[in-house]
Amino acid sequence: MTANMERKLRVGVISTGGIFRGAHMPAFLANPHTEIVAVCDTHKPSACAVADEIGQVRVYTEWEEMLEQEELDIIDICSPNYLHAPLAIAALERGLHVFCEKPDAIHAEEALRMKEAAEKSGKVLMVMRNNRYRSRPKFLKQWIAEGGAGHLYTGRCGWIRRKGIPGKGGWFTTKELSGGGPLIDLGVHMIDLSMWLMGNPKPIAVTGATYSHFSQAKIEGESRHVEGNTYDVEDLATGFIRFDNGATLQVEVSWASHIEEDDVFVEMRGTKGGFSMRNETFKLFTDIGGQSVNSEPQVPIGGWGHQENVNHFVDAVLGLVEPEFTPDQGVDMIRILDAMYQSAREGREIRLD
Ligand SMILES: NC(=O)c1ccc[n+]([C@@H]2O[C@H](COP(=O)([O-])OP(=O)(O)OC[C@H]3O[C@@H](n4cnc5c(N)ncnc54)[C@H](O)[C@@H]3O)[C@@H](O)[C@H]2O)c1
Repeated sequence: MTANMERKLRVGVISTGGIFRGAHMPAFLANPHTEIVAVCDTHKPSACAVADEIGQVRVYTEWEEMLEQEELDIIDICSPNYLHAPLAIAALERGLHVFCEKPDAIHAEEALRMKEAAEKSGKVLMVMRNNRYRSRPKFLKQWIAEGGAGHLYTGRCGWIRRKGIPGKGGWFTTKELSGGGPLIDLGVHMIDLSMWLMGNPKPIAVTGATYSHFSQAKIEGESRHVEGNTYDVEDLATGFIRFDNGATLQVEVSWASHIEEDDVFVEMRGTKGGFSMRNETFKLFTDIGGQSVNSEPQVPIGGWGHQENVNHFVDAVLGLVEPEFTPDQGVDMIRILDAMYQSAREGREIRLD
């Protein structure tokens, strides 16, 4: 496919829930090179509502049938986590490009099979990493590339909610369907952002602890309405990652915990400078002529980066850019999460090298 293509890339969507409606649908509709031609959801009213909104879209309730019937270029996967790997592999094996929501997979072996399927097919497999495309991270990436921080040797990141269990009793809180709680849901965002800013070093060892104290308590806060009562995932996870270049990263995530207020942050220290990106604040720390200098770059917080991530994916499919996300990075990510859960169960550090 080249940039001079005469027709638009045909997108088939699997799952039309919250993230599809809120982020993927507007992004693929706004991209000048794509058209959504088919949508699939086991909950037919959801797929029909989306089809009504988009217009001229065929509706399916079985993804296998959609893949069979439609002539697609791209599959967009917005399903519960346990479906990401099998759907991505099936689509790649059919020679389709795949854009998939995070987390890449719920086990490292699955992420590895996704990577192998992508390599075999030669198609683009990209997993949503929308935070990389936000204005402050992009500014930091440039600042780091220009040597502003020197070697980044340690950092900490977190997404700590006071009350924010997403749909207690639904697929998010059912390990078989989600793979885990806030670690796999929120941790994937913050760990990826940190590793990307660090230049994607290879993880070599991981320690983790998980807690589940709010499965029965009424602390979930804003929550979508769901049927069911399963809650067999953690509500808080904390961990420590060592990388092959000597750098380290502390992680803390929660869906519910007794803290003053929600806290979302990445902070890092390098040999020449450091930074703190925490909620609304954004600061750089350097030293000029022996003087400590703190600055607050006037970079607006901006949007969530979903549109930019979709645009980048489409450009990669068109061969206009090298993909910023490689399936290797997905394998590293899910190996880290697997190891953190294993460490939490076994009470020891897990080596990955
Ligand atoms: N990148 C982000 O900012 C971000 C934000 C929210 C969610 N997500 C990710 O997006 C994914 C979906 O999350 P959500 O919040 O939209 O969930 P959701 O519960 O709102 O929607 C999931 C949809 O999947 C459908 N579904 C379930 N099984 C299906 C199947 N076998 N075939 C087709 N459809 C099926 C459900 O009917 C539902 O409509 C998750 O992996 C989540 O981690 C990413």
